[in-house]
Amino acid sequence: MELIKHLSEMRNYINRIEKEKSIGFVPTMGFLHEGHLSLIKRARQDCDEVVVSIFVNPTQFGAGEDYHLYPRDLSRDIKLCKQEGLDVVFVPSREEMYPDGYSTFVHVEGELSSTLEGSSRPGHFQGVCTILTKLFNIISPDFSYFGQKDYQQVLVVKRLVRDLNLRTQIVVLPTVREKDGLAVSSRNSYLNKEERCAATVLHESLEKAKQLIMEGKRDPALVASKMKDLIKAEPLAEIDYVAVIDPETLQKIERIGKEVLIVVAVKIGEIRLIDNLKIA
Ligand code: PAJ
Repeated sequence: MELIKHLSEMRNYINRIEKEKSIGFVPTMGFLHEGHLSLIKRARQDCDEVVVSIFVNPTQFGAGEDYHLYPRDLSRDIKLCKQEGLDVVFVPSREEMYPDGYSTFVHVEGELSSTLEGSSRPGHFQGVCTILTKLFNIISPDFSYFGQKDYQQVLVVKRLVRDLNLRTQIVVLPTVREKDGLAVSSRNSYLNKEERCAATVLHESLEKAKQLIMEGKRDPALVASKMKDLIKAEPLAEIDYVAVIDPETLQKIERIGKEVLIVVAVKIGEIRLIDNLKIA
């Protein structure tokens, strides 16, 4: 496995292989877990060469957010990547990705990126789209792998790729969960024992919504309000948003039809977690 730290080295590597080999790409912020590994495994099945990037991207964190505290363990990540039989891990420096005077940003306009996470975390998707555009340019992947765990991120990235005619194809894989249903996330490592227990409320609220819909409930407001009741019963939980919405546009719906997306963002103590469930 090659560990590449410089952009020029990464470009050289890609130049050598891109004519003959298909390239799979898994962008991450590190502190790898089973969710990331599921993307890596699938990329390994699909592509001749797989590049994983590890970069905690400062531009997608807001001023009061956890950029400096974000969990990092590069040596553990590299070990995991070796175990997966990866070809290349790309770990660029902040200085090379954002040199002094850096001034170019990529912004997907409109509701898709301004609602939900976009509204709770202004500037977040601009940071995500900027770093991904740069990484797609450096790595030229045929296929790029993303998790449904970040549902809105997938929609925004698909729009970015379409609108800017980027040549990568986006592959989306299901959310990997702990045994009790909590979506695996790097941020789960912040949770203490009590908070970890309380965090199952996100998944429970999604399951509650599913149950209500299966029973024939069609009013999105009613489903959302039952979910909120369940979350509010957990003293450590504070709701950011709960929404029962259209899975393509992320907009409000009048009535629950065949396809619906349920999204939640909840703070457990100081830790903000998100989860979603698409019912089709
Ligand atoms: P990060 O949070 O490290 O996630 C990297 C990828 O792993 C994303 O596509 C995310 O959706 C996926 N992922 C996270 N948890 C998952 C789970 N439980 N099951 C399946 N997939 C999961 O998302 C980012 O980094 C960044 O925004 C990034 C795209 C790297 C841009 O900086």
